[in-house]
Amino acid sequence: MGPGIAQVWMMGGHETAIVDISEEALQKGTEDIRESLTTMYQMGVLEKSPDHYMSLLTTTVSMQEAVEGASLIIEAVPERPDIKQTIYSQLDKLCPEDTVIVSNTSSLPLPDMFPDFRPGKFFVCHFFNPPPIIPLVELVKTDRTDQGAVEWLKSELLKCGKKPIVVNGFVMGFLVNRLQMAMMREALHLVQCGVVEPDDVDTAAMAAIGFKTAWQGMFDTMDYIGLDTVALVSGIIFPNLSNDTEVPAIITDKVQKGHLGVKSGQGFFNYEGERAAEVMNRRQTLLLEQLKLFKKYPS
Ligand SMILES: NC(=O)c1ccc[n+]([C@@H]2O[C@H](COP(=O)([O-])OP(=O)(O)OC[C@H]3O[C@@H](n4cnc5c(N)ncnc54)[C@H](O)[C@@H]3O)[C@@H](O)[C@H]2O)c1
Repeated sequence: MGPGIAQVWMMGGHETAIVDISEEALQKGTEDIRESLTTMYQMGVLEKSPDHYMSLLTTTVSMQEAVEGASLIIEAVPERPDIKQTIYSQLDKLCPEDTVIVSNTSSLPLPDMFPDFRPGKFFVCHFFNPPPIIPLVELVKTDRTDQGAVEWLKSELLKCGKKPIVVNGFVMGFLVNRLQMAMMREALHLVQCGVVEPDDVDTAAMAAIGFKTAWQGMFDTMDYIGLDTVALVSGIIFPNLSNDTEVPAIITDKVQKGHLGVKSGQGFFNYEGERAAEVMNRRQTLLLEQLKLFKKYPS
């Protein structure tokens, strides 16, 4: 996620530094950024050449060098509290008090876990993969978070072409993962019951829900349906939806067999041979076309 997030700031015209623990990681991150910028440029998403944006990037294994003069620091180290804590101790010594420091954590209530680290000035800024393409960024604040810092980051993200939203209070999964997991639970439940096949669920997600949701949000949709109808239909359907709290066997069985998805070549679908690369390339191309439409018709 780190290089992708760095690319967002570079595309926003900011000088950006990435710090990692090894030169290999920095080199891989730099290559990934150049490749992504090149694809975006070739597809007409970026006006300036990859070289222009690359000139804004520096990489280093020295935390001190990376944070010098920075007005914003985004932490994106692995989701392990011990590693995050080590980083925060270093940053506390190196950064002036007014530097805004945020974490890209997916699940940890970090401001509550480390209450003495920058009280009020440290919160969550959650990007989605791949960060240069997916517009949404979730800013998660607590009661103690400095509102001015949140507003400032929100306006900077907007200038970088992102769509920030604020989640007021730590809820597990923030917003997007909660919505997504609710849909995934129902999808897994129906496949496990034998009512539908995985590829038909995916067709439904892409050809109906996703097709429309890209341009019409959930509350907007409810207003169009009519809230009286939504109330009647909810009353009938809600009691029939899955409320499973266990991970379903349809997933655990596959994990036990080593069928982990794209990374093992087999999941719900088969990705052997060139198929994984084909799927990724197609996804990237279509997401970039979608991003062009988003830029053309900002909501
Ligand atoms: N992968 C995703 O789709 C995704 C999406 C949203 C949020 N996140 C969150 O982003 C964070 C990073 O996730 P990731 O998937 O990119 O992890 P990753 O393991 O792919 O990358 C973490 C990077 O941090 C580096 N690192 C480790 N210790 C370090 C240190 N002490 N100093 C500097 N760099 C160090 C590693 O070398 C590695 O390059 C996590 O908090 C994760 O929950 C991930």
